[in-house]
Amino acid sequence: MRSIVASSERNQVKPVRYGIVGTGYFGAEIGRYLVSRSDAVVSAVHDPQNAENVAAELGARSVGSPAELCAAEDVDAVVVASPNWAHREPVVLAARSGKAVFCEKPIALSYEDCLAMLDETRRAGVLLMAGHVMNFMSGVRRARSLIEEGAIGDVLFCRAVRNGWEGPQPSLNWKKQRKLSGGHLYHHIHELDFVQSIMGPARIATMVGGNVAHQGRGSGDEEDILVITLEFDGDRFAALEYGSAFRWPEHHVLIQGTEGAIRIDLQDPGCELRTPDRTERFLLHRSRAEDDERRAIYSGSETDGAVMYGDPDRRPPLWLRGIIEEELAYFHDLVQGGAPSEEFAALTDGSAAAASIATADALTLSLSDSRKVPVESVINAAERSPSLPV
Ligand SMILES: NC(=O)c1ccc[n+]([C@@H]2O[C@H](COP(=O)([O-])OP(=O)(O)OC[C@H]3O[C@@H](n4cnc5c(N)ncnc54)[C@H](O)[C@@H]3O)[C@@H](O)[C@H]2O)c1
Repeated sequence: MRSIVASSERNQVKPVRYGIVGTGYFGAEIGRYLVSRSDAVVSAVHDPQNAENVAAELGARSVGSPAELCAAEDVDAVVVASPNWAHREPVVLAARSGKAVFCEKPIALSYEDCLAMLDETRRAGVLLMAGHVMNFMSGVRRARSLIEEGAIGDVLFCRAVRNGWEGPQPSLNWKKQRKLSGGHLYHHIHELDFVQSIMGPARIATMVGGNVAHQGRGSGDEEDILVITLEFDGDRFAALEYGSAFRWPEHHVLIQGTEGAIRIDLQDPGCELRTPDRTERFLLHRSRAEDDERRAIYSGSETDGAVMYGDPDRRPPLWLRGIIEEELAYFHDLVQGGAPSEEFAALTDGSAAAASIATADALTLSLSDSRKVPVESVINAAERSPSLPV
């Protein structure tokens, strides 16, 4: 796809010039990380509400549309951090301008959109990286490498839970509106992506749930309880829960193998491997300080601690800045010609994004039709229907 440049040569190449579409809470922070590097600048930003201040802070100019940003001669690579519903257009425009693109999660709210984005970037021969940032948590990386080296044998079952309580909001943010965010399942695609990255793509998807406790003023229309089962080839299963109607907050992933198990706790941060003859505890994030800060935030919150309502002036916590840094450093290296590592290959070859959105769509269909849905049926239907152009 791209030439591989030796790292000594790369050190001498010109700074990468970025454009950012969407400079709210997350896009502004990504921009801050990029401009902190000596080999990156942010040339342009586009945001209908928050562009001016962020542009001034980053030393960028504010432009009037994603099309203008993507076409700009002083933009080499595009970061898309607009609301979930507004990812397809800038990704396609970036591809058509021959620019590498990093797109926040969930990259799309339908498999059809996801395919269109993957097709455009593949056709243009440009890099598309999905912002599945959980992959960059130190504890997740350690868990994955333990599983790969056979420490827990064959994985039979995963359970991922991301539950909390949210009260009415003073104003209704896009994150609480099903059509704009996709609801908890799409907005928090991390756990689904992680489970499938361990077990492979699910074959059969089943979901029950609904909006049971969030009606009226200050409440959105997303489902606040989602209970999911996934069936995989070879008699393997997963169970996931998501929602904001749970008074006892929980956020963890448990991976059960034939020889042992690993628990990744994102609520009371820390990870543990258990086998009959071995126990290993390791951090969730890069340092004790990052884990402790996350613990303090989560223990003082009824939610799963992770829903932030857009504001570019609100800095993410240390642990979140840490994984943004790891993730964007990886993207930056690829833009400069670095080779994708096997560990993160699924984030740039389209497979993680496609598998996540296909299964999320199958689960959505399962909920609406009250039936088990083969994920393949979603994939086949999208591949048969020609996608509308942007
Ligand atoms: N990886 C993570 O852990 C993580 C965390 C937070 C957010 N995100 C993702 O980042 C993206 C942005 O989330 P956020 O928390 O910054 O939300 P936010 O509401 O703070 O920011 C979104 C920004 O996009 C702007 N915007 C609205 N419509 C737009 C459009 N059509 N084109 C361009 N910009 C537009 C808004 O004005 C706002 O400034 C979302 O996709 C979200 O899922 C990821």
